[in-house]
Amino acid sequence: MNLSLTWKTTVSISTEALVILVHEKGAGEDAPAGEVFTRFDALTGGLLADLFRAGELTGKSLDPVLVHRPPGLAANRLLVMGCGKREKFTPAELRKAAGAALRFLKGKSVHEFVLAPAGSFAPDKQVAAAAEGLVAADFEPDAYKTDKKDDKRIDRVAILAEETLQPVLDRAIVTAQAQNLARELINEPANRMTPKDLVARAERVAFDGGLEIDVLDADRMKTLKMGALLGVAQGSDEPPALIVMRYQPILASPSRFHLGLVGKAVTFDSGGISIKPAEGMEKMKYDMAGGATMIAVMHALAQLKPAIPVSAFIPTVENMPGSRAQRPGDIQTTMSGKTVEVINTDAEGRLILADAITYARRQGCTHLVDAATLTGAIVVALGHHNVGVFSNDQALQDRLLESARECGEKMWPMPLDEEYRDQLKSIIADLPNVGSRWGGAITAAMFLKEFAETTPWVHLDIAGTAWLDDAKPYLSKGPSGVAVRTLTDLAMKM
Ligand code: BES
Ligand code: MN
Ligand code: ZN
Repeated sequence: MNLSLTWKTTVSISTEALVILVHEKGAGEDAPAGEVFTRFDALTGGLLADLFRAGELTGKSLDPVLVHRPPGLAANRLLVMGCGKREKFTPAELRKAAGAALRFLKGKSVHEFVLAPAGSFAPDKQVAAAAEGLVAADFEPDAYKTDKKDDKRIDRVAILAEETLQPVLDRAIVTAQAQNLARELINEPANRMTPKDLVARAERVAFDGGLEIDVLDADRMKTLKMGALLGVAQGSDEPPALIVMRYQPILASPSRFHLGLVGKAVTFDSGGISIKPAEGMEKMKYDMAGGATMIAVMHALAQLKPAIPVSAFIPTVENMPGSRAQRPGDIQTTMSGKTVEVINTDAEGRLILADAITYARRQGCTHLVDAATLTGAIVVALGHHNVGVFSNDQALQDRLLESARECGEKMWPMPLDEEYRDQLKSIIADLPNVGSRWGGAITAAMFLKEFAETTPWVHLDIAGTAWLDDAKPYLSKGPSGVAVRTLTDLAMKM
């Protein structure tokens, strides 16, 4: 899809479809009184008021009305996309409305359209939100369908905005395309996305973006004494890897910050010897979403060039119950020196992250953020609408939540009080890898905190948000690419 800016008078735009955004009518109004409604109603000789009176045009959030050959306009079609209450219209709502318009028109076999953004916020925010919404909405998870319908394809979209906003558009395209890259990687099935395949994809991203890359194999992990990471890997014939990608800015003086991004990349989580039930196990291909997120963020940063060094650390393994698999009760010595009693081999994410976090600290990272599909418990706590955020550093957590708000990605802070630490007691080793039944997302985060030690660190549990079970009008079902935009924004702001 080609995305551009155009700055023309709306009446004269010739396009397959012109998309406008109309709000719901406010209390005490008898019709949607917004500026767009009023202007287009006048341009079309009262068409919108007619549609409103007929009950077809409601302006309710994401409720579309399509009109062919609208009077007074050069466009072939007019799509009026509802965008809800005026006072609640944020960039996040615009992002959704733009995406919903694209998916609606794609379904109607339209190939090209022009979108007129709106909102009481600055035009640059309008362009960014609209562009991100459009690019993310265009992603389809149907990579292996052999009967793809060629007429369901959007070739070109123009956003109605001043051409001086081109740099804003460019940045929005980079981040949203990075989000789609994460989705593409996550969507791959485990037979086509082994740790080796993920390494190859990371190498391509690094090569294309001029990033340094270092891939640690099992031998180097042994030398570094990464017992927890190796312990998880030993149940599979697929060799593990720790992918390290580095972005280094050209700086006059050394940076105070070095951001480390750690992403869980279990290419398939069978549970290992503590095997999972068959029902839904196919979804455990998305257990590498955290790693895919970090590869995608590095892809974006290679183009956007933040002012600080950023490194990604992606431990990748397959969690399988092979004959060499670790057993419940086994004890592993982590790179940090701490010993772990593996009570449950299905709590593998925290084991591989423990060694990756230690390695990131030894590589000189001053701040760490990890992303992981870590626990089913976070889905119980927050459902599918918020990423769980855990941290040992209020300032870093605040910065991250600010970026999340700015990017329209819902994230919610979770507690990490010392009381929860009591659940992590083993009589034989320093730590067990699981706590009790209760507060499972918190005890998982607490386990990671032991390895972050004094380094400011934020943990994102994306188990509930990295995969959409239901399509939204503005996003397909399947991998969401959550956190890519937020982490890119965070790195740019640091
Ligand atoms: N990858 C899973 C967590 C998960 C669950 C991700 C649902 C996506 C959707 C993780 O490795 C896991 O199995 N966690 C266990 C931990 C338990 C054994 C303490 C869980 O959440 O059940
Ligand atoms: Mn697991
Ligand atoms: Zn897992």
